Amino acid sequence: MSVLVVYESMFGNTEAIAEAIAEGVRREGAHHPPGTEVAVVPVAEAPSRLPDDVTMLLIGGPTHAFSMSRESTRADAVRQGATGTPRIGIREWIDASEPRADLPVHTFDTRVHVRMMPGSAAKQAAIALRRKGFELAKRGESFWVGGKDGPLSHDEIVRARAWGAFVAEALTPA
Ligand SMILES: Cc1cc2nc3c(=O)[nH]c(=O)nc-3n(C[C@H](O)[C@H](O)[C@H](O)COP(=O)(O)O)c2cc1C
Repeated sequence: MSVLVVYESMFGNTEAIAEAIAEGVRREGAHHPPGTEVAVVPVAEAPSRLPDDVTMLLIGGPTHAFSMSRESTRADAVRQGATGTPRIGIREWIDASEPRADLPVHTFDTRVHVRMMPGSAAKQAAIALRRKGFELAKRGESFWVGGKDGPLSHDEIVRARAWGAFVAEALTPA
C-alpha cells in the first residue's frame, strides 16, 4: 500500500508544501495498514499509470493565470528566475494519465494571498481529474505565498502537515 504525493513547483514553495503534507500523512501512519509507504514525487517523474498498490493520490501545483500552469506560464516563471522544470506540469500529467475511478484523490495548490484574486489550480485540477475518470477527485486546500517566488505565508507548513494528517484519516480502516 502506498500514498503518492505528486507535486509541480517552479520556485520551490509547492515542493515544500508537498513534503509537509507527506509528513502529516506519515504522522497518521500509526493508523495505516502496516507497511504503508508515503512517497513524494515531482510530477515529471510520476508514472502515468499509477501502480496498483497506490491507495491515495495527493496532487498539487502552483496557480498560474487563475488555473493550472501551462508551458507558456512555466516559461514565464523561468524568465522570472524559477529553477523548476518547465517540461511538464500537473495539467499535462492529468491529460496523459490512466485514470482510476476508485482511487481517492485530493488536489492542492499554492496561490498569492490577495483579496479578490480568483482562480485555483487545485480547483481546476479536481475538475480535470474527474473529467479524465478519477471519479473520486476532490478539491483540497490552497496554501498561500507572498508573491510569485514566495515565501510561504506564516504557518502554511504547519497547516499543510495538519491537512495531510486529516486526509490520511480516511485511510484508517473502520
Ligand atoms: C506566470 C505566473 C502566473 C501566476 N498567476 C497567478 C494567479 O493567477 N493567481 C495566483 O494566486 N498566483 C499566481 N502566480 C503566483 C504563483 O501562484 C506562485 O508563483 C506559486 O504559488 C509559487 O509556487 P512554486 O514555488 O511551487 O512555483 C503566478 C505565477 C507565475 C509565475
